[in-house]
Amino acid sequence: MTVHFIGAGPGAADLITLRGRDLIAACPVCLYAGSLVPEALLAHCPPGARIVNTASLSLDEIMAEIADAHAEGHDVARLHSGDLSVWSAMGEQLRRLRALNIPYDVTPGVPSFAAAAAVLGAELTLPGVAQSVVLTRTTGRATAMAESESLENFARTGATLAIHLSVHVLDRVKTDLVPHYGADCPVAVVFRASWPDQRVIRTTLAELDPAIGAGERTALILVGRALAAEGFDESRLYAGDYDRRYRPVGTNPRFPESA
Ligand SMILES: C[S@@+](CC[C@H](N)C(=O)[O-])C[C@H]1O[C@@H](n2cnc3c(N)ncnc32)[C@H](O)[C@@H]1O
Repeated sequence: MTVHFIGAGPGAADLITLRGRDLIAACPVCLYAGSLVPEALLAHCPPGARIVNTASLSLDEIMAEIADAHAEGHDVARLHSGDLSVWSAMGEQLRRLRALNIPYDVTPGVPSFAAAAAVLGAELTLPGVAQSVVLTRTTGRATAMAESESLENFARTGATLAIHLSVHVLDRVKTDLVPHYGADCPVAVVFRASWPDQRVIRTTLAELDPAIGAGERTALILVGRALAAEGFDESRLYAGDYDRRYRPVGTNPRFPESA
């Protein structure tokens, strides 16, 4: 018996890996984090599967579901939105499973920042503009942020920021970022990326209207010059004169063995 943690992707039912889909189909028990996991994915469950929305359960209650499946020898598909490596609450479940000696594995999913970038048709790392992406959030009711991880601190890097769980505090985002990125820095707020009702607002830090965050909370805020840059350098990777292992150039290539 194994608990398969599966990244369910950002919302569109076809943005799940083949492995994730096949695991759902093979498990007689499916526990899914209902608020953001699309119900359409449950169509992959086998007939008669026990399907439980864990949105209203406590950690103890979720573990009780898993313990019951373990006692029956039933594999469990455990679905969380996006990818499991960020803000999934997987860590605490894995710790409990290790203590109980219940086997588990993890199948990655498409994270929401990647889905939002795809909606925008944007590369978040452009040569000479930004070479890092910071996945971050602001302090929430349930989770405090260390001062060292403040938006202002990350802003000092000039990296592209992918700010989660924060569309309700756009005024603060704006105040914290303008001094570092400039008032004309591009911002995109992507609501429910890849869901049928996805919505995109492209603006600048100066023009960012905090009121847009008043309703729908499932949104990603992307900030950085890479979002609207046109005058960036081309990458060296495809440059005709760039000598590399898979495309040696000149009479004395750096990687002669592959020549
Ligand atoms: C609890 S976190 C889950 C993150 C998820 N594990 C991931 O890989 O993106 C929820 C937050 O992720 C962002 N998010 C999740 N799905 C999204 C989507 N489809 N479009 C935009 N933002 C999304 C929002 O900021 C939301 O408040």
